[in-house]
Amino acid sequence: MKAGQEFGFFQVINHGVAKEVMSRAMEVVKELFDMPAEEICKEANRDGWVYMGSTSHDINGVHLWRDNIKHQCHPLELSMQFWPQNPTRYREVVASYVVHIRALSLRILEAICEGLGLEKGHLEEMSQVQFLTASNYPPCPNPGLTLGLIKHVDHSLITILFQGTTDGLQILKDGHWIGVELVPDSFLVNIGSQIEIISNGKLKCAEHRVVTNPKEARTTIATFINPLPHCIIEPARCLVNDSDPPLYASMSFQEFVDASKAFGPHTDALQNGVFPQN
Ligand code: OGA
Ligand code: NI
Repeated sequence: MKAGQEFGFFQVINHGVAKEVMSRAMEVVKELFDMPAEEICKEANRDGWVYMGSTSHDINGVHLWRDNIKHQCHPLELSMQFWPQNPTRYREVVASYVVHIRALSLRILEAICEGLGLEKGHLEEMSQVQFLTASNYPPCPNPGLTLGLIKHVDHSLITILFQGTTDGLQILKDGHWIGVELVPDSFLVNIGSQIEIISNGKLKCAEHRVVTNPKEARTTIATFINPLPHCIIEPARCLVNDSDPPLYASMSFQEFVDASKAFGPHTDALQNGVFPQN
């Protein structure tokens, strides 16, 4: 909880997800990214998941160096039919991974509930959506000129990131970028903007980015737990009183996301003045 207050991130090691489940998911995602770009795009032409593609593209004037795919994970039976069919074991392997990650996410959200003094199930109730983003950051000949992912906060409740074996994630802390140390077989838990709001600022989401690496490719699997679009997100009533007024406006998750987009795809809307109520 302390790390959540200070950094917006923490790493979990005794998470109960079998190493095998993690390594098989990582392997199959790497296999997917090893396919020729046209093949990946062909797989992506099914509804329900998107190949955001192209290693090299510009966003907000920054040259980005990443391929990524994104798809829904929950409810599993409804989501899976839209997942890649190649590599052939992708669906089976990733299904096992996301089910484990969902269970872990709900356990962590329950612990956060307890830490904040919220009613049991308060956060689980809002955790109806889960999606996965797998990213591939190929080695970059000139890391000084590119970023893997520009500075952003995650607009989720929480994000569980499996970083594999190559580092590159940095967190902004007191105006400085700090590299996140790789802990083998761990997950990085990232407090999303929605928990910052619900906790009325007691837990902070952290701005983060990914830098590129001249030698090694980096592959990551991020799994986001989100509310449904119409779910109203606001500071929990029990955390608000006369001396602790609400610091954030109440709005639906969709309204929040739309308002964030108005500032650009990765801008931290929380810090742009629209959301804090006072
Ligand atoms: C993200 C993210 C980090 C990474 O997808 O939101 O921050 O290391 N990913 O891929
Ligand atoms: Ni992120």
